Amino acid sequence: MDHQTCSQELIKTIAASPSAFHAVDTVVRRLEAAGFMALSENDTWTLEPGGSYFTTRNGSSLIAFKLGSSLDNYHFQMSAAHTDSPTFKLKSQPALSGPDGVLRLNVEAYGGMIDYTWLDRPLSLAGRVMVEKDGAIETRLLSIDRDLLLIPSVAVHMNRDVNQGYAFNRQVDLCPLFSVGELSAEDIDRLIADELSVTPEQILAHDLVLVNRQPGCVWGAAKEFVSAPKLDDLQCVFASLEALLASDNPHAVTVCALFDNEEVGSGSKQGALSTLLRDTLARVNAALGKGEQDLLAALAGSFMVSCDNAHAVHPNHPELADEKNRPQLNAGVVIKEHAGQLYTTDALSRAVFESICRGANVPTQTFANRSDKRGGSTLGNLSNRQVSVHSVDIGLPQLAMHSAYETAGSHDTAWAIEALKAFFSTDLHIDGSSRVTLR
Ligand code: CO
Repeated sequence: MDHQTCSQELIKTIAASPSAFHAVDTVVRRLEAAGFMALSENDTWTLEPGGSYFTTRNGSSLIAFKLGSSLDNYHFQMSAAHTDSPTFKLKSQPALSGPDGVLRLNVEAYGGMIDYTWLDRPLSLAGRVMVEKDGAIETRLLSIDRDLLLIPSVAVHMNRDVNQGYAFNRQVDLCPLFSVGELSAEDIDRLIADELSVTPEQILAHDLVLVNRQPGCVWGAAKEFVSAPKLDDLQCVFASLEALLASDNPHAVTVCALFDNEEVGSGSKQGALSTLLRDTLARVNAALGKGEQDLLAALAGSFMVSCDNAHAVHPNHPELADEKNRPQLNAGVVIKEHAGQLYTTDALSRAVFESICRGANVPTQTFANRSDKRGGSTLGNLSNRQVSVHSVDIGLPQLAMHSAYETAGSHDTAWAIEALKAFFSTDLHIDGSSRVTLR
């Protein structure tokens, strides 16, 4: 895929993924079209060498894997990315009636967004709804495909100091406007029910979040930018999935792990701190007819690439970045490091990944926080608590992380796919922590 096609495919994937549930659904369709077989966590697994499989948890996390055809002394080569992004979640009693005949929605922050970026733009709702049907409870995905809500700013004439910096009160300032004079509180459930062709009485519960309706685009005089909602981390979800699909490795189990709830600490049953990856790898090992010792030996020779976007140097605020370890848009895949090990990168894992990128002709750059600033956290160090393996933290350079509309370089996604495809396809042999061979 050339880089412009790649950016357009990325934009389509993001448009089809308005919530973490939809992101997983989008990935499932892509995997099924590529011949991957679905495995339920409720069943006992029977796997064939050479086969391709995936399993999901909570409908919002997914692990896809390809089994090599000769797995005598096997190991895992894995990527991780996250399906969720900062947004606002609808409370279970969502109607705020008034003032003066107005109807607003009651929402709560999910993750650490830049609040003001959510104002004055068309929004909608997406997520899952639990529906009562024939004595059972069914999950339905809901994405209302029209401009439905908006959070209006206060006019500058009523808040003269707004440009001095304004602290939004999330209970007061960020309630989306739903209706004025036309609808009442019950109409929220009725609207959801109509979308799903059920009755309001059938709706038992929902996990619904606000969606920015502005579609992604490639822009700039030389088409060098791509902007869209949720580039963190759907850009890495897209790149790691495409790389797994395009790769081939007869001697390893290659794994693409996509976790929900990274933006709220990863502590849920489907997050990077959960047993999902460990359980999946243990079941793969058992289905290959191998024992506990084999699994531990496989893990000792395994490698994880944790993929979560990185901060590019800001054009108006270069002083916020480290003097040297500051990525640029369109300059390649970013390897992130942190002395405190919030990023898992160390000399061994950096050397392995750099070497793979060099072989694939993919440029790399480095990110480290300013030494007087605390940075963000990510997946790799958390997933390592359940599945401890050699690991590197990478990402694609972007601006405005956690804005409702983020910006990246239009060249970088294609490079990430090339790098990760080379990673999955390389036969890695890791001998403890002393020697690595790449074939
Ligand atoms: Co992220």
